[in-house]
Amino acid sequence: MKNETPRPIRLKDYKPPSFLVDTVALDVALDPAHTRVKSRLKMRPNPAAAETGKLQLDGENLELEEVRINGTVVPRSSYEVIPSALILPGMPQERFSLDIVTHVNPDANKALQGLYRSRGIFCTQCEAQGFRRITYFLDRPDVLAKYTTRIEADPELAPVLLSNGNPLERGTAERGKRHYAVWKDPHPKPCYLFALVGGNLSPVASTFRTRSGREVDLRIYVEPGKEDRCAWAMDALKRSMRWDEERFGLEYDLDVFNIVAVSDFNMGAMENKGLNIFNDRLILASPATATDAIYEAIESVVAHEYFHNWTGNRITCRDWFQLCLKEGLTVFRDQEFSADERSRTVQRIADVRQLRTHQFPEDAGPLAHPVRPESYIEINNFYTATVYEKGAELCRMIETIVGREGFRAGMDLYFERHDGEAATVEQFVKCFEDANGCDLKQFRTWYSQAGTPELACALSWDSETKSAALTVEQVLPPTPGEEAKHPLHLPLKVGLISGNGQDIELNLKGAGPLADGVLNVTKPRQTFTFLDVPSRPVPSLLRGLSAPARLKVDLSDGDLEFLLANDSDLFNRWQAANDYAMRTLLRIVEARRSGKRSVRGTGFANALAASVANDGLEAAYRAELLRLPTELDIARELARDVDPEGIFRARRQLLKLVGETLGDVLEDIYQADGDDDRFSPDATSAGRRALRNAALTLLTARGRPADKERLLRHYQSATNMTDASHALFLLAAAGGTDAGDALGDFYARWKDDHLVIDTWFVAQAIAPSATTLQRVRALTKHPLFALTAPNKVRALIGSFASMNPRQFNRPDGGGYNFAVEQVLAIDKFNPQVAARLLGSFRSWRGLEPGRRKEAKRALSRLVKAEGLSRDAIEIATKILE
Ligand code: PHE
Ligand code: ZN
Repeated sequence: MKNETPRPIRLKDYKPPSFLVDTVALDVALDPAHTRVKSRLKMRPNPAAAETGKLQLDGENLELEEVRINGTVVPRSSYEVIPSALILPGMPQERFSLDIVTHVNPDANKALQGLYRSRGIFCTQCEAQGFRRITYFLDRPDVLAKYTTRIEADPELAPVLLSNGNPLERGTAERGKRHYAVWKDPHPKPCYLFALVGGNLSPVASTFRTRSGREVDLRIYVEPGKEDRCAWAMDALKRSMRWDEERFGLEYDLDVFNIVAVSDFNMGAMENKGLNIFNDRLILASPATATDAIYEAIESVVAHEYFHNWTGNRITCRDWFQLCLKEGLTVFRDQEFSADERSRTVQRIADVRQLRTHQFPEDAGPLAHPVRPESYIEINNFYTATVYEKGAELCRMIETIVGREGFRAGMDLYFERHDGEAATVEQFVKCFEDANGCDLKQFRTWYSQAGTPELACALSWDSETKSAALTVEQVLPPTPGEEAKHPLHLPLKVGLISGNGQDIELNLKGAGPLADGVLNVTKPRQTFTFLDVPSRPVPSLLRGLSAPARLKVDLSDGDLEFLLANDSDLFNRWQAANDYAMRTLLRIVEARRSGKRSVRGTGFANALAASVANDGLEAAYRAELLRLPTELDIARELARDVDPEGIFRARRQLLKLVGETLGDVLEDIYQADGDDDRFSPDATSAGRRALRNAALTLLTARGRPADKERLLRHYQSATNMTDASHALFLLAAAGGTDAGDALGDFYARWKDDHLVIDTWFVAQAIAPSATTLQRVRALTKHPLFALTAPNKVRALIGSFASMNPRQFNRPDGGGYNFAVEQVLAIDKFNPQVAARLLGSFRSWRGLEPGRRKEAKRALSRLVKAEGLSRDAIEIATKILE
């Protein structure tokens, strides 16, 4: 079978559903290989539909046993079954009930969509289109129904039976050989929010009293024996519930809130109504097993899924083109939660790093798409950094434009108008216009136009009029299929800093005092004039990344040093350090390429020293200052003719120089903050560990014997996973016998822990050494590795392809060939994971000619393979186009 590019689905073709479903009653008899699903739907023709004679229900990989309409069996000759649907012509034109019996095989399901088993646990994943793998249904988000679910199973195999909503009833059948539970969800929902779980799980229980005084039972279900790793997730859940009440006035709406942690999961977690299902790496944590980064991720993902209860579940999406309506908004909400719980500045830095690492390259490459795409072939390919992270930035810009209170007023109106509905982006934006009496017409372009805008800024100062003029030009690079671009409405947050390091009060000509420093950029080219500027200021622009843009401004090294020392906006102070590091790295790359070795980077290292030594700044923030741009950051900045080897060497050179220049400061930091008291995962303690580990990285880069000893000691004396894994990564990167010993020690210690052992796979996959590819290849045959387990694939193959630019981009093309082989193998059973892995090729066109040729060869081989999934075809063809 040849791969034909499947037909795309288009936003402009949206039509309301032909039928509506009022209630769904499911009766699921769980069995590993033969699960029977009985579904009773109460349906009626949709008055808003054009045509209601024929009913076409989505269904995939189902074995159909029987169909009844109003209790009467429909003869086989009266309906049609195709691989993707059940078609029933001539439906009643009034209310009717439809009974369907199907069978599915959970054990055979390795796509992990629909009903499957993960380490023996029955669980479901329905977003985006998994419900059609459980039963025939109108599998689209604008069909909202009330669900009752009866689950029945062998009590030995599945003592715990869960579904959405509140528990109604449970009991035994067949003289104890079977048992059942009935769950009822009073809130209408689309089928992608349906969930069911059955298995041997242990609950960790707590309660939460809502602000109106209702008591909610909270439970986290985990593999027996892991109960002691749930405390942090439970704590995060309660803080999230409280925060949503306080910040947005949103209260939880069921008697129970359940979370289940499973090992095999395509994504991070899923917001099923009242029954969130999580990848267990985002629930389980103890000081010995989880890093601070994992603790932080758990907090933010637990919050994210909880926040979906209102933004996603109570108000859902009309169609999948509106995905950012729930995802961008919910990411914005979880970012705000983390900012309130932790350090706002450090949180913003982390979020901006994430945006620049994942979203900017997506927007600059072959996979670029608007936050609200206009067409897709496979919706699973659109759970992207653009929809999530850039989508969150659009919400943040709305908040910057209308102010925090205005944003809350818009949100209040959104819930008032659309609660219980499937909404669109237009309806969402309209709420902010109506609540604030403002015009966001031009702002809407952000949703439909791909690409990261560039803001070219120039500041001039006139000594005669004592005024400063800021000229801003929007440069909008073309993206695939979108040559001409419209100017955007961007909030540009600025400050002007006078020679003494103070912010000048902004007095905008024609507008007056500018308290929040926010300029509304709307034209392709625009000049803003500030009055009463007594001396030549240094501009601090795009503070806090007030718009997801690239800033171009001509600042000297001296200006950056000045900003790094003085900017009252701490985000921009970090930005100055980062820009200074980047320009230094680019100079080193260029100098090495042209054979001049004169560029060293001393200016940057000296400027950094003063800020890092300043212990008036939070530890976590100082750690951010010490984190030099990654190889990927540098590659992104270069964009063309990228030589990953040269980048690796340049970066290593600067790391060493910073380690040497800041040696004393770094040693002081390392000595001062030894973690001898009891471990606490809070942001302040984590910040101290981050700072100390950042110092360790730079000291290690010096490569002196004492540095090697320090690193080894750090590994051996670590009392928590943050320190242990940090040292393990550094040791593995250095190679040699110490690396072998540490990896051996880590393996012996954690081989029986399916989660922690992933760190051992990662450490080996990201080592920059020439033997890594061979090692990674061998590890795919390791007994603890499984191609069917997404966490394993991400740990070994994913981190090799996306976090080891030097070895993935080997000049001989071996890294590309390996990745393609793995994608092909995985695509046969889990297209979603395969297509995601393929994304690591998205920047291949920017490589230097030799590697570009190798990458193209590997990709061309891939697209020629037979029987490629829709998921993989869509990504591969776009990348190659
Ligand atoms: N909706 C999930 C979230 O909260 C992500 C997800 C998408 C999970 C598709 C599984 C499948 O972001
Ligand atoms: Zn989400």
